[in-house]
Amino acid sequence: MTTGEDVQSAAALNRRDFVQRAVALGAAGLVGSSARAAAGERQRRIIIDTDPGVDDAVAILLALRSPELSVEAITPVAGNVPLSLTLPNALRMLELAGRTDIPVAAGAEGPLERELITASYAHGNNGLAGVEFPEPTTRPVAEAASQLITRLIRGSPGEISIVAIGPLTNLALAFRADPALPSMVKDITIMGGSLSGGNITPAAEFNAYVDPEAAQIVFHSGAPITMIGLDVTRQISVTEVVLQRLSSADNPLGRAAGRILRAQIEQLRRTGIDDGTLHAHDALAMASCIEPGLVSRHPMHIEVETRGEWTAGETLGYRRPLRRSAPRQQAPSDSSLAPPAANAVVALEVDVGRFLELLTERLAA
Ligand code: BDR
Ligand code: CA
Repeated sequence: MTTGEDVQSAAALNRRDFVQRAVALGAAGLVGSSARAAAGERQRRIIIDTDPGVDDAVAILLALRSPELSVEAITPVAGNVPLSLTLPNALRMLELAGRTDIPVAAGAEGPLERELITASYAHGNNGLAGVEFPEPTTRPVAEAASQLITRLIRGSPGEISIVAIGPLTNLALAFRADPALPSMVKDITIMGGSLSGGNITPAAEFNAYVDPEAAQIVFHSGAPITMIGLDVTRQISVTEVVLQRLSSADNPLGRAAGRILRAQIEQLRRTGIDDGTLHAHDALAMASCIEPGLVSRHPMHIEVETRGEWTAGETLGYRRPLRRSAPRQQAPSDSSLAPPAANAVVALEVDVGRFLELLTERLAA
């Protein structure tokens, strides 16, 4: 009998074999899609919607070093720092990686209905924890982020995934302008939300807090959604061993990741946030697209609080088992009180060791 473990270890072997073949082909001079095609595995085509941001930058670098993913576009949005910084930071990462073929489109300068709140206390004034990279020489494309997202998804219905690791303003704008679009998205992995308390307020996670109205639109869009929230990202702590491996990597992407992560730890320690623990939230969201078995997944119905005086941006997860265990006499008699249908799967457990291994293996090798 084949057990779940057998399937997982076979998948891990296949994955390692695939990565080894891809790395070998890369060393042989076959780069980009030809190497990946020759490696014989279908890639996941992704758009990265992001607000770089230290962990965003690491997530981008991780994606670019992972043959399972084909990055089709990057769409920066205002979040950790204003768009005037997230946009060039995305271009900087692509220039560092020599991937200026990937289009970058400027996204929203602020949330749908609110003033922008940034997190420069955690990401530094430049969004990269103060680490300086050369001024980018490439330019964003002329289209706005929401237009580029729409064009790419409409051009390949059912084939493109979105990895959304910033406030969800760009996606909400695209979905509002084109209500049929969510049905054409393959899936969306969101770093955002939390069922176990917030990191910007006691109730809310940062990305959901910055633009709760956008988050609510996206969660209600009907697109298949995986929520990688603080429930799992807070279980991650990037260790000194990982930082040292990255800092001594034989490639500039790994070294850049090591520099900005270390600088962020120093910034967090200076500001007294989270005892300087580095969760690398967005990198976990990206890793879960590379290796889906990294996190457990639980179907739920997610609502985003948009009106609460103290709770704006809080994400609430309705789980069917909660209702099933309710005392009989309290069971809802009115069908309007029936448990709402799931609109997302939520990650609740993560294989921390495997995540750190994957991060190091991809960026430091
Ligand atoms: C999220 O907020 C941002 O500061 C990080 O980049 C991440 O996307 C974590 O709450
Ligand atoms: Ca982010």
